Amino acid sequence: MAVINKLSINQFRNLECQYITPSKGINLFIGNNAQGKTNLIEAIYYLGHNRSFKTKSIKEVIRFDHEVFQLNAQIGEDRVKLEKSKNKNTITINQQRINNTSQLSKILPIQIITPDKGFIVNGTPKIKRSYLDWGVFHVKQDSVKAFKSYNKVLKNINTLLINNKVDELNFWFLELAKSAAQINQNRIHYLQQLKQTVFSNQLNLLSELIDPLDNFNYQFSSGWPKEVDETSKQSIYQYLCKNKGALLRVKHLNYGSHKANISFSLNDKKECFLSRGEQKTLSIIFWLTQVLLLVNLETNPIVLIDDISSELDSKKINIVLQYLKTLKVQTFMTDIGHNLSIINSINPTIFQIDNGTIKLMD
Ligand SMILES: Nc1ncnc2c1ncn2[C@@H]1O[C@H](COP(=O)(O)OP(=O)(O)OP(=O)(O)O)[C@@H](O)[C@H]1O
Ligand SMILES: [Mg+2]
Repeated sequence: MAVINKLSINQFRNLECQYITPSKGINLFIGNNAQGKTNLIEAIYYLGHNRSFKTKSIKEVIRFDHEVFQLNAQIGEDRVKLEKSKNKNTITINQQRINNTSQLSKILPIQIITPDKGFIVNGTPKIKRSYLDWGVFHVKQDSVKAFKSYNKVLKNINTLLINNKVDELNFWFLELAKSAAQINQNRIHYLQQLKQTVFSNQLNLLSELIDPLDNFNYQFSSGWPKEVDETSKQSIYQYLCKNKGALLRVKHLNYGSHKANISFSLNDKKECFLSRGEQKTLSIIFWLTQVLLLVNLETNPIVLIDDISSELDSKKINIVLQYLKTLKVQTFMTDIGHNLSIINSINPTIFQIDNGTIKLMD
């Protein structure tokens, strides 16, 4: 079970040098606008992903007039340290330098719910793949190898197609087919597990979020044409070879696992026709199901929810929080503080954020 026992933050956005000792249950950070709530959520996300969900620029997240930021966390027995500047990028786990972000994600599996990242239902295919592959990674950690290999080989193939280098293509098609079949199998298997979880009785609490009679569904498309058996490397390889001519004309691989998508629907209504509130609620159901699946697999993730009352009304906040409490997952959430009475019913540990300073409230 992943739990941050202590978190030190140094010059991350408006958060100066300080540390907090969160509880292993629900931690609520309240503060007015522009005090540092989203910055804190971003800092924790950064620790688990070695990147921000808001920007690609390191300079943007370092406190103004400073050169470097540091984040430190004690997670059970493990100590994770991240230090970043324009020229420096040091990550250590238990004082050992690591170059591999997946080791970080393994220690700190983080599920985030924030409009800054975007909702999964009616989100872009890229966002959908990012949430999907987050789940795939946490149930099957060696899936990273297939993703890395796929991306590398895809780049090679596109370069060959641009330069019309026909001879080498078959070799790389086979390499791509190997990792694509693996990725497709992993994604399909993961979504099957997730579907079983959505429809299992364990989600009773969540059925209060949508009418139990409503039919929430989702369909995966692997990104490969219908005539390909996406789980078979032979089938993928043969298809690529057969369609080499067409690929040489378009000069890039315009289908494949990098184009995978998930289509959501509610009562047979496609996601684009759903209201913003329905899209939000279904996204939350999807995310919480991912959390439940991991809890069932004993990889309790850490949940981050930014600005909870702007995302959910009081009834829904109550359901979600009761649910997270039941699952016993460490949660960091922020709020402006107007909904405190319902939030209080789940008895969170409350911190106040004022101008970048975080204080435990008694
Ligand atoms: N690199 C930086 N250095 C210093 N301050 C920064 C940096 N980047 C952003 N800030 C400031 O941090 C402050 C807090 O931002 P944050 O987004 O965390 O606010 P918030 O508490 O989430 O507010 P809201 O309730 O409006 O969402 C803002 O005033 C912002 O300008
Ligand atoms: Mg904010």
